[in-house]
Amino acid sequence: RTGARVERLPLARFTTLGVGGEAEVWFVSSLEQLAEAMEAPYRVLGGGSNLVVADEGVPERVIRLTGPLAESDLTPDPELSEEETVVTGWVGGGVPLPGLIRKLQKLGLSNLEGTVGIPAQVGGAVWMNAGTRYGEMFDGLHTLEIVTPGGTRQVTPDDLDWGYRRSGIPRNHVVSRVRLKLRRSTPEEVLARMDLADQARKGQPKMKTPGCAFKNPGGVSAGKLIDEAGLKGTRVGNAMIAPEHANFIVNLGGASSADVHALLHLIRERVGVPLELEYELWP
Ligand code: FAD
Ligand code: EPU
Repeated sequence: RTGARVERLPLARFTTLGVGGEAEVWFVSSLEQLAEAMEAPYRVLGGGSNLVVADEGVPERVIRLTGPLAESDLTPDPELSEEETVVTGWVGGGVPLPGLIRKLQKLGLSNLEGTVGIPAQVGGAVWMNAGTRYGEMFDGLHTLEIVTPGGTRQVTPDDLDWGYRRSGIPRNHVVSRVRLKLRRSTPEEVLARMDLADQARKGQPKMKTPGCAFKNPGGVSAGKLIDEAGLKGTRVGNAMIAPEHANFIVNLGGASSADVHALLHLIRERVGVPLELEYELWP
């Protein structure tokens, strides 16, 4: 045994929706522990900010990165950094993105401030190239370390078929660490750009939610389409389509995964355009 901490826990505790039954959670803090956790069927848990987990939980191991895999070294690498560009040391996949964005702002390092307000971990945000109109994760990546049951490799963004909310990294390949590629700016300039991205969130609900349910089809706001179908405020059990923004489903307190699934089904039935899910449904 490599010493990973293993505990049976309710996943509701790890999701921003606050829904989800029990699973065996593996807290891994090294590549050796990660390799051991991957020896049986597993899922990877980041910030749980895009997940709808069943009330029954999941049968697989659930891997959560901690310790050194949740720490960041933002020191510029002297060999890779230039006058205008900084390439950092390694940033763990388990690092909470909001704190990282704040640190980069204080250091006056630009490229990732457009992702402000995304409550993810770095690994999860990279895996789905989380972003906003003001920027996305792949704007600031230099190297990615990816772990699979077959071994560990390093890739660059050029090696991947990434795009809108897509990294091209297969499911269950773990983003263990990344090096960031940032532009030297000033704290004031980065803050001003963060404020712009923050403004765009003013109309989003403040309740428990996993963010936007569907991707925007062909650049049109899915929220606008769901709104136009007259579904804002629709409630099933204790889940509701947010009155503030129709692409958000919120937990009014005690919602079940079935409540959320029923709302997703209803939306797809009522909106004329095919919608691709952004949430991930476990199992
Ligand atoms: P999780 O939800 O834990 O997992 C999501 C997927 O990523 C799963 O497939 C999981 O297996 C995989 N994953 C997690 N960690 C890793 C890893 N280390 N390596 C490989 N795969 C991994 N998203 C946006 O893009 N833009 C937004 O503006 C935005 N706003 C949001 C606002 C709110 C209030 C909320 C709750 C969510 C919002 N989201 C937004 C959605 C969510 O934050 C993103 O989808 C985010 O990328 C999910 O990251 P996570 O770490 O929470 O991953
Ligand atoms: N709109 C409506 N009704 C609604 C929602 C939106 O009419 O219920 C209209 C707005 O008035 C606006 C337009 O649709 O004119 C666009 O809305 P918004 O600015 O909220 O952007 P969005 O396209 O709905 C996207 C991302 C969000 C991200 C915001 C801000 C997707 C699926 N959504 O939303 O990302 O935070 O832009 O940049 O790409 C997420 O992915 O989880 C997420 C929250």
